[in-house]
Amino acid sequence: MITSKELRKKWLDFYKDKGHVDIGAVSLIGDGETGVMFNVAGMQPLMPYLLGKAHPKGKRLCNVQGCMRTVDIDEVGDPTHFTFFEMMGNWSLGDYFKKEKTAWTFELLTKVFGLDKNKICSTVFAGNESAPKDEETAKLLENLGIKKENIFYLKDNWWELEGTVNTPCGPDNEWFYPRWDKPTHPGVCDINCKCGRYVEIGNDVYMQYKKLPGGKFEPLANKNVDTGFGFERMLMFLNGVTDGYKTDLFTDVIAHMEKVLNVKYGDNEEETRSLRIIADHMRTSVMLIGDINGILPSNVGAGYILRRIMRRAIRHAKKINLVTDELTEIAKIYIEKVYDEAYPLLKEKESYILQSIKAEIDKFNKTLELGNKEFEKVVAGIERKNAFMRTNPDFKAENVINGKSAFRLYDTFGFPIELTCEMATERGYTVDIDGFNEAFKAHQELARTTNAGVFKGGLADDGVLTTRLHTACHLLLAGLRHMFGTGIEQKGSNITSERLRFDFNFDRKLTDDEVKQLEDFVNFAIARKIAVERVELPLKVAKAQGAYGIHKAEDDEIVSIYRIGDVDFQICGGPHVKNTSELSKFKIAKQEAVSAGVRRIKAVLE
Ligand code: ALA
Repeated sequence: MITSKELRKKWLDFYKDKGHVDIGAVSLIGDGETGVMFNVAGMQPLMPYLLGKAHPKGKRLCNVQGCMRTVDIDEVGDPTHFTFFEMMGNWSLGDYFKKEKTAWTFELLTKVFGLDKNKICSTVFAGNESAPKDEETAKLLENLGIKKENIFYLKDNWWELEGTVNTPCGPDNEWFYPRWDKPTHPGVCDINCKCGRYVEIGNDVYMQYKKLPGGKFEPLANKNVDTGFGFERMLMFLNGVTDGYKTDLFTDVIAHMEKVLNVKYGDNEEETRSLRIIADHMRTSVMLIGDINGILPSNVGAGYILRRIMRRAIRHAKKINLVTDELTEIAKIYIEKVYDEAYPLLKEKESYILQSIKAEIDKFNKTLELGNKEFEKVVAGIERKNAFMRTNPDFKAENVINGKSAFRLYDTFGFPIELTCEMATERGYTVDIDGFNEAFKAHQELARTTNAGVFKGGLADDGVLTTRLHTACHLLLAGLRHMFGTGIEQKGSNITSERLRFDFNFDRKLTDDEVKQLEDFVNFAIARKIAVERVELPLKVAKAQGAYGIHKAEDDEIVSIYRIGDVDFQICGGPHVKNTSELSKFKIAKQEAVSAGVRRIKAVLE
């Protein structure tokens, strides 16, 4: 029995003993350099150093890094897949190579972790026109005591960051362990088998090449080692369980759901799948919102991935009758108990994270029922048609939800396409994805052409206000709406060179905790350095895209709207700063009542 907290320490201690420096973890959100949206591997932030730059902490490094991969999202629900996971890593930057690395991985697995060397399987690169067969590693493994029949040469034992160029890569040596001893079925049941008996636990990459544009490889001046071991999977083996959700990373969350639902994990396959999906997706949501460069659910980029994940969790909660308020309780368990030591920032941002989760649940809840009805209508339509057509002897039942309907569910009811697909599958239907993409493109094209419309005034820039405080007003209102719902509106504002004054409809004093949450919301938007953009759209299009604000324009009149990333989209004549980073620090100085149901906040930028 080993806890998650102990395992992180064991990994780091082992490599520190071998002269490595713990460099700590960085943000889960991609830094934009590689074009990869999330941090998908421990090596990602070390790219320049693997390509030859000297690292300030030396040539031997280690850490435990949070990573996020969405390629396996459809597998989540089974016992061994996760969207967020931690990678235990260590690196040699032009220092030791295969001999030391194979020996240390072997020592760690067999001596420290107590895995059985007779059961360990290992795969090495079979070679191709770019790089030779890795007989050297195979020999080293054999000398260490790994059975010859447990060493496999494979063509795809090559690791690179897919979709990138000018990045380091090389042949790799992967490590596998069986979840149970007996072959699952007659015939060959080895690491290549799909039965799930063998699970990859980690990977030593011998990074000696740079991937060039056009798919060619150039040898690097340094021969590096890049190691990544799966934390969740290792924890599973070390606790003698075959299910990653039975480790202490998840047991409290699962137990909480079992208690409130009065069910037993594992009793019912469908329900257990939902429990895992909720546990995984809520953990990922907490990590993405609570990250140092945290994001919020939105309709673009990384924010959209977060939205998909959150909405999928919400839907599975509904499916098993878990009240959606419990999702914030689950988030609390992760923040306060499971990750309190390894991710202390989560605790600092706790109220912000919980509020953000609640806001997304509320948003989705508003349309979910209507969306479900719409979905049922679409299905009923197809069924009616099928029933009618059945009189025709050549009849073949139709089971496809067309692209237009799927787009309507997306656009009007906020159903991510994956959600529609998942619901369709459950009912024995498929979705016309090409048709959906076409409808999506047509919609974008319409928005692009209307965007190009000429701004005809109506809301003139007055250019004299103190610009920074004006942007702060937008963030403040966005924060209020985030916390208390979209019923909150601006009832007046006044800006001097020192402070902003902002009136809004609300019927009580904000608590100290709420004041702090509001400040955190604004300061976090400032820290995220979000670009502020102005767009011009006909009022009705702007509203359909979620714009809000005071306006006295006709439906077709072109209005000016300011977009602050995924935080705010408000009809306004401006002017505003170019980037939220120009705002420094936001502080609420005072709050008071203006009249019944209207409150006033005075705030400054420090
Ligand atoms: N970079 C290697 C991986 O992600 C270690 O598996």
